[in-house]
Amino acid sequence: MVNYKDLGLVNTREMFAKAIEGKYAVPAFNFNNMEQMQAIISACVEAGSPVILQVSSGARKYANQTLLRYMAQGAVEYAKELGKNIPIALHLDHGNSFELCKSCIDMGFSSVMIDGSHLPYDENVALTKQVVEYAHQFDVTVEGELGVLAGVEDEVSAEVAHYTRPEEVVDFVTKTGVDSLAISIGTSHGANKFKPEQCTRNEDGILVPPPLRFDILAEIEKQIPGFPIVLHGSSSVPQEYVKIINENGGALKDAVGIPEEQLRKAAESAVCKINIDSDGRLAMTAAVRTVFNQNPAEFDPRKYLGPARDELKKLYMHKCVNVLGSAGKVE
Ligand code: G3H
Ligand code: 13P
Ligand code: ZN
Repeated sequence: MVNYKDLGLVNTREMFAKAIEGKYAVPAFNFNNMEQMQAIISACVEAGSPVILQVSSGARKYANQTLLRYMAQGAVEYAKELGKNIPIALHLDHGNSFELCKSCIDMGFSSVMIDGSHLPYDENVALTKQVVEYAHQFDVTVEGELGVLAGVEDEVSAEVAHYTRPEEVVDFVTKTGVDSLAISIGTSHGANKFKPEQCTRNEDGILVPPPLRFDILAEIEKQIPGFPIVLHGSSSVPQEYVKIINENGGALKDAVGIPEEQLRKAAESAVCKINIDSDGRLAMTAAVRTVFNQNPAEFDPRKYLGPARDELKKLYMHKCVNVLGSAGKVE
């Protein structure tokens, strides 16, 4: 049993309180490997931003749970070495069982998500409450979810989305005791967030997605004023990356994300955690494909993972400075 406090990590409570007060959102970036971790930490140190290092169960399987834990511990030391002791939370993304959440808490995670959003309401409440009761004994914070996002990933998949029902949120947060609530207002996981028929096209033929449901967000905020809200599926799918990927041998069709100005607007509300994974995947893929296309003889991993890491850092800096507004919030 390891307590996250002994690793130099923090839970999300104070981070979120400051983010709501300061009208910004804390970035939650997923990581699976060393280059992603380096990019996240170096970007957030340079930007002076708090950060949530996010680990999915797929990432745990891919990278090994013990290694990931030590990498997060290393991230704290790495940030100090780079010159800033930024608050770093280690968070389980889309935990799907009590056992998985418990295992992460026991291994030093400072925050967990229990995603019961696909369950009938009462089962979601019961499961989330069970995780909260365990987590709070160790001052670990818990994110629950109401409403279903569309999108398909390794561990998360839903054919049809349904928006969060504002009339359920008071009951859910009261009965479960969660510290933050992920909601569904039109974001979606992955790089193809909407079907082309759900979008319009601008004059350049680029897909324009339907706007987020800020009316539902406002209604939720009215029900639970000041309560920390989380947005999943918040990649913007930069079209520059999609173009580079496709011009260098890739085949991404109809990739579309959430416009950054809508995320900026959300960050100014009680939305205090914004999850971004796919944009990082696109940045890395664009950089790696470019290297291989320009130099097919290259076979030193540092020569393609290095540029991927640099591009990723640039992307994360941009998110902190221009989208989430979290830059400069750490003295
Ligand atoms: O929302 C899920 C994250 O993007 C993680 O995806 O399950 O493929 O690691 P993953
Ligand atoms: P994206 O696929 O939009 O990056 O969302 C990531 C996410 O929600 C992780 O939980
Ligand atoms: Zn998610």
